[in-house]
Amino acid sequence: MPDRHDVSALLKRIAAQCTELPGGKVADYIPPLANADPTQFGIAVSMLDGEEHAAGDADHRFPLQSISKVIALTMAMQRLHDDLWERVGREPSGDPFNSLVQLEHERGIPRNPLINSGAIVVDDVLLELFDDPKAAGYELLCELAGSDIEVDQEVAAAEQGSGDRNRAMAHLMKSFGNLHHDVADVMEVYNHQCAISLSTRELARAFRFLANDGVDPASGRRVLSDSDARSVNAVMLTCGTYDAAGEFAFSVGVPLKSGVAGGIAGDVPHHMGLCVWSPALDESGNSLAGRAALQELTDVMDLSVF
Ligand code: DON
Repeated sequence: MPDRHDVSALLKRIAAQCTELPGGKVADYIPPLANADPTQFGIAVSMLDGEEHAAGDADHRFPLQSISKVIALTMAMQRLHDDLWERVGREPSGDPFNSLVQLEHERGIPRNPLINSGAIVVDDVLLELFDDPKAAGYELLCELAGSDIEVDQEVAAAEQGSGDRNRAMAHLMKSFGNLHHDVADVMEVYNHQCAISLSTRELARAFRFLANDGVDPASGRRVLSDSDARSVNAVMLTCGTYDAAGEFAFSVGVPLKSGVAGGIAGDVPHHMGLCVWSPALDESGNSLAGRAALQELTDVMDLSVF
């Protein structure tokens, strides 16, 4: 591992290189996301011993969007462990994150918990397991990030308005018996979690429990069992960046989860949590600059798990 000055200098260099990469497009199907400035870029790493490095707009908060699917999965694994896999698979889908096609053939069982359909089933499970899953998810993230985080109410409301595909998936899964609550109740949990907003610095901190065999290094509290943390990392590596997961495994090589607001958060097992954010996306819905930055970071620091 390079010394702390080298890591800070590396992140600064990456931020300078990756701002304003050509070719990306800000997500506009959730209207408030279309207002994001595509030139913004933040990056942060948080080591297990508390050492942190950041560069660019690392303290700018952005909506988690699909990154929240990791927190929902963590909460479901805390209570159900491997029984969760009766409701949702753990294979990459090879299809876009909001695709409905496999659900019909596979009788309402989503391919994995990190695509929209899978997260909707996980949120249905959370309604069974928690009195108030929205509050429980928010509190877990505040604890892991070490700060009072925000929920972007404008984004939460816009999700509701632009969620026809998600509601269609939920109804289809309900028709197969794989959704137990009202679609509207499940979507409320889902839309709320997508709108929780954190900075790259806060997310890098929050994801350290996954690098530390399930234990939050800040508090020493066990969030997941060793084996459940391994499962979450495996699903992130194979499914966390949608139909580009193979390419990310090849070129970055660590467990990651992306969101359409341009964040990509993850961890390097036994070393650090990390997060990058830049709103312009590539055609698979992953941050274009974020991907280039992670490639450079993991290459220079030799972080790939392979
Ligand atoms: O439900 C949606 O489509 C969004 N709220 C979240 C999708 C997302 O972040 C996928 N990411 N690449």
